Amino acid sequence: MNIGVVKESVGESRVAMTPDVTKKLSAYSLLVETQAGCAAGYPDGVFEPVAEVVTKRQSLVERAHILVAINLPDDDTIRCMKPGTILIGQLSPSKNIESIKLLARMGVSAFSLDLLPRTTQAQSMDILSSQSNLAGYQAVICAASMLGRAFPMMTTAAGNVPPVRVLVIGAGVAGLQAIATAKRLGCVVSAFDVRSATREQVESLGATFISVASHESGEGGGGYAKEMSDAYKANQEARLMEVMPRQDVVITTAQIPNKPAPKIITKEMVASMRSGGLVVDLAGASGGNCELAVPGECVQCGEQRVWAPLNIINGVANTASFLFASNVAAFVRTLIRSDGTAAAAAAAGVGTGAAAAGAGTAAGAPLFDVGDELVRRTLVAHDGAVCPLL
Ligand code: NAI
Repeated sequence: MNIGVVKESVGESRVAMTPDVTKKLSAYSLLVETQAGCAAGYPDGVFEPVAEVVTKRQSLVERAHILVAINLPDDDTIRCMKPGTILIGQLSPSKNIESIKLLARMGVSAFSLDLLPRTTQAQSMDILSSQSNLAGYQAVICAASMLGRAFPMMTTAAGNVPPVRVLVIGAGVAGLQAIATAKRLGCVVSAFDVRSATREQVESLGATFISVASHESGEGGGGYAKEMSDAYKANQEARLMEVMPRQDVVITTAQIPNKPAPKIITKEMVASMRSGGLVVDLAGASGGNCELAVPGECVQCGEQRVWAPLNIINGVANTASFLFASNVAAFVRTLIRSDGTAAAAAAAGVGTGAAAAGAGTAAGAPLFDVGDELVRRTLVAHDGAVCPLL
């Protein structure tokens, strides 16, 4: 069976499979579109010992039984897919519903790994965690290069340099890594989250937890946050107004599932920061946590700047690709059968999309179990239809 790796579109530096991770997929042959890994530091030459580098995308897509991608491929690429092809990536189905319908019409079985539940079993496949973790790291590294000030305290013959003060809003995966990275660089770090469970995690990293006076719980389902009441938000705003004047850098990562990002940092808070202060708003793609954030831009607001990068992870694309590829490999090894019979029939265009997708045909055994919890949660198109969970 063939696994195909397509080159991502402009603006995306990552690649969904890396040469070292292919060792975990030795049951498959790998086809890689030419230049697919170049922007992530994996030129065709490093793929050649482990993969066939294919020049024409159409040929690669037609020959692949399983296609892996970071983002949803464009509609022209989808139209080249044969019935029964399996597509795996971060397909963001809520934003791409028309293309998901097209995948269904083409008879593709599409898995969106951003829908994986945050369970122990799914941990090794969890692209949201692997990529958010790096985004948190990269936010601090970028802030360190943008601020124009040394981060750690320094005692030198020429004088003493105070440490930079960093506040992290949202102590989920990205936030905790931002705290850890800022601590490693010698910053004085504090953090805030509406989920009280995060206090211990923040403190275990050596940062100060900012408490808001309230009995309201911020816990939503599955470890995620819920939207807070207006009374809580007023308390939160008052508390943040107290701590903001001491901050050089604020990194915001707060998200609420299926909702726009909560607005937490007001323009008054930004103006109260230390001169030259920088807000790095990682929630830019869902509207931003700072009311001054312009997604994709760095805006000068008086003496401070507010930066809301949309693809900060491009700056660490080599590592991000390796981790994404490892997540994909774990998913394939756990949930997709490497027995090629059904898929080979599919790639040859035998039968309908429904039959060839591995639903148990005369051509061979199913390639995945539609009753499996992780399959059910991530399958967005199958059997000629968009999956009902969407
Ligand atoms: P996320 O990206 O949805 O949100 C980031 C953070 O923002 C969260 O900690 C959330 O509580 C916080 N937040 C939301 N509204 C806020 C507000 N108004 N003010 C301040 N903070 C606010 O979360 P992420 O990073 O995806 O993690 C979600 C949960 O999943 C966490 O509990 C995490 O520990 C858990 N998790 C579990 C895994 C596993 O068991 N396999 C793997 C990865 C994450």
